[in-house]
Amino acid sequence: MTTSNLPENVRIVEVGPRDGLQNERVRLSVEQKVMLIEQLAKAGIKDIEAGSFVHPKWIPQMANSAEVFKRIKKQKNVRYWALVPNMRGLENAIKVGVTHVAVFVSSSESHNKSNINRTIDESLAQLKEVLEVAKKELLTTRAYVSTVFGCPYEGKVDFKRVMEITDFFLQTGVSQVSLGDTTGMGNPLQIRKNLNTALDRFHADKLALHLHDTRGLGLANAFVGLEAGITTFDTSIGGMGGCPYAPGASGNLGSEDLIHMLDVSDIKTNINIESLLKISRLLEFDYGTTLNSRFYRSQLRIR
Ligand code: HMG
Ligand code: MG
Repeated sequence: MTTSNLPENVRIVEVGPRDGLQNERVRLSVEQKVMLIEQLAKAGIKDIEAGSFVHPKWIPQMANSAEVFKRIKKQKNVRYWALVPNMRGLENAIKVGVTHVAVFVSSSESHNKSNINRTIDESLAQLKEVLEVAKKELLTTRAYVSTVFGCPYEGKVDFKRVMEITDFFLQTGVSQVSLGDTTGMGNPLQIRKNLNTALDRFHADKLALHLHDTRGLGLANAFVGLEAGITTFDTSIGGMGGCPYAPGASGNLGSEDLIHMLDVSDIKTNINIESLLKISRLLEFDYGTTLNSRFYRSQLRIR
């Protein structure tokens, strides 16, 4: 810790190729996705969520994930994550050599139902089996808890429930639980209070923050996360994305936005922001995606 009570290093989990692209109007080809993922690794990103093995009817943007995983030239020191909703998704991921798997559940019933057509308890029972098989296969696992700081259908969410689900996943052996502000409803004071509760119970390495910048509070929320002791953040290149089954979920916290804030605060990520800006230009001008990152837009104006 520096004197300002901020960490010296932060780990970024880049979710653009999954959370970003799943909500995009344009559908990227296998070649375009492979290029995107390889460029992200070259920019210094060590954790990349490269796709998901969900039902293609619900998320057609991810229908080519298996082919993408087969084609990426993998760097030894980079972890390529796949999101899976159930056993079928895990089996499909294993078939193409996925070694890092993320599972997900909401902390509010209505969002879970609309997202994966299950109650929370049904999902947890399914995911327990998924995580057991993943462990036998020696995969590294991670879990998302969604709608942690507010649900688009139910409003306020009981943070005690979030803690129970987090505990369940950590007991089941996931390496980390990522707390998702799925529709950007959280605010700094609430997040500070909730994270203090969480960090009284769990080690900071076991928790990540997955912020959406839907209402412009992404960086403020990230800053209180840093002050509370969180050192892993999920972000999306260019600020693409969101969950299609959460109304108003657009705009993950942009990778450039957070990394710029960390750079100017002397917090190291070892990620080259100039390389990220080039990738965002490729995404916007060659691939036609919609980018919300403020830092990216500001740099476009002065170039
Ligand atoms: P369901 O209809 O309840 O599935 O959907 P089912 O188990 O009843 O099976 C129905 C059919 O789907 C069967 O085929 C299955 O084989 C097939 P049939 O026998 O009829 O021919 N099936 C599958 N096919 C391909 N891949 C699979 C799969 N599973 C079953 N994995 C299901 C349940 C979960 C599949 C569906 O609701 C789904 O795919 N939902 C996707 C939701 C999603 O991807 N949401 C976005 C990701 S979550 C998110 O963005 C939030 C996060 O970023 C964190 C945050 O921001 O908070 C992570
Ligand atoms: Mg998300």
